[in-house]
Amino acid sequence: MRTRAAVLRGLNEKWNVEEIELDPPKHGEVLVKLAASGLCHSDEHVLTGDLAGACPGPPVIGGHEGSGVVVETGEGVDWLEPGDHVIFGFIPACGRCTWCASGHSNLCEQAITFTTGMQLGDGTSRHHTLDGLDLGLMCLLGTFAEHTVVNEASCIKIDEGWPLDKACLLGCGVVTGWGSAVYTGDVQPGDYVAVVGAGGIGSNAIQGARMAGARVITAIDPVAFKREMATTFGATHTFASMDDAMGAMADTTWGRGYDKVIMTMGVGDAESVGKAFWLGGKRAKIIITNLHPTSEMNLQVPAVMLTLFEKSIVGSLFGSANIRKDIPRLFELYLQGQLDLDHLVTKTYSLDEINEGYEAMRQGENIRGVILYD
Ligand SMILES: NC(=O)c1ccc[n+]([C@@H]2O[C@H](COP(=O)([O-])OP(=O)(O)OC[C@H]3O[C@@H](n4cnc5c(N)ncnc54)[C@H](O)[C@@H]3O)[C@@H](O)[C@H]2O)c1
Ligand SMILES: [Zn+2]
Ligand SMILES: [Zn+2]
Repeated sequence: MRTRAAVLRGLNEKWNVEEIELDPPKHGEVLVKLAASGLCHSDEHVLTGDLAGACPGPPVIGGHEGSGVVVETGEGVDWLEPGDHVIFGFIPACGRCTWCASGHSNLCEQAITFTTGMQLGDGTSRHHTLDGLDLGLMCLLGTFAEHTVVNEASCIKIDEGWPLDKACLLGCGVVTGWGSAVYTGDVQPGDYVAVVGAGGIGSNAIQGARMAGARVITAIDPVAFKREMATTFGATHTFASMDDAMGAMADTTWGRGYDKVIMTMGVGDAESVGKAFWLGGKRAKIIITNLHPTSEMNLQVPAVMLTLFEKSIVGSLFGSANIRKDIPRLFELYLQGQLDLDHLVTKTYSLDEINEGYEAMRQGENIRGVILYD
């Protein structure tokens, strides 16, 4: 069939919305009509080349935060049928590997074709340009398209009554941010928590810290609108920079330093990790959720202070979450009024307006921009 997709043809070019050729689903695959897709910062890293080597490069269909409706299932898919509503996990969860079985499906071993963006089952592509090039898929999904074909391991079936325009946010940003605080950070009642970068991911780290019972939640972001929204999500204090937050630490943490510092800036950098290290107090955990460019190879922290203050620096992928458990659970928390998804969506776009949506992200105008499909 033919469908339309936003294709990155070259680094630092615009997303090109074009007709593509889409093959039918093969064994273990599913054809899905997209309902909505969030505009996460990680696709921007693909565009700039910051994720070179870790994610497929051009030509690639972007998008990894999506929801939609199953149109057709390939051979061997016996738990999904046409009409089912699904959210995609940006990392597949096979349910059978060591990591899935031990409660860490965010590290699923089956994600072997992640770097090429080809199908999990046979390493080939279902998506092609009209001039015959195979297209890679961001996170094996390619949600910047009206239709896509993905492996069943990427699908989470959800209740048909759940609004798909909000559901897409659970495919990356909400689970990643919330889990960075609740799972990776293990925020405890009474903790002092700092969240550095209050965008799509950081806003959910703030919500996670709030729900886990943090005593102080400091949101740090240079953009006034982000700081204002951060208080809606549960921040108790806001600062425009890490330096400002450092200067106020005597008041905000009674001079003890933060128990958890969660890094959710647009682009991670070594210097900021150095500052985060000093925002943290004794036994502090510095959680690195934002992605640093793959070219950056060194962090500098005073190693002796890791020992003397028992600090730790830890990475967080997809919030250390288990999507088959956590996606439905978080959606139920939304329906119950405990988790705010509504204020996360600042503006919606059509697929053709995707470059406008990313420009708004660069300008700091959106918590999340979301593409809505017909
Ligand atoms: N680890 C994972 O599993 C995972 C998943 C999704 C996204 N990410 C990464 O998380 C990061 C955040 O993504 P997002 O979609 O929320 O991006 P975003 O652009 O929506 O938000 C980033 C925020 O950081 C702020 N910021 C920029 N420089 C800052 C600084 N020096 N100090 C404080 N704040 C600063 C921006 O103003 C913005 O509000 C990106 O690097 C993204 O690739 C990681
Ligand atoms: Zn993402
Ligand atoms: Zn697995």
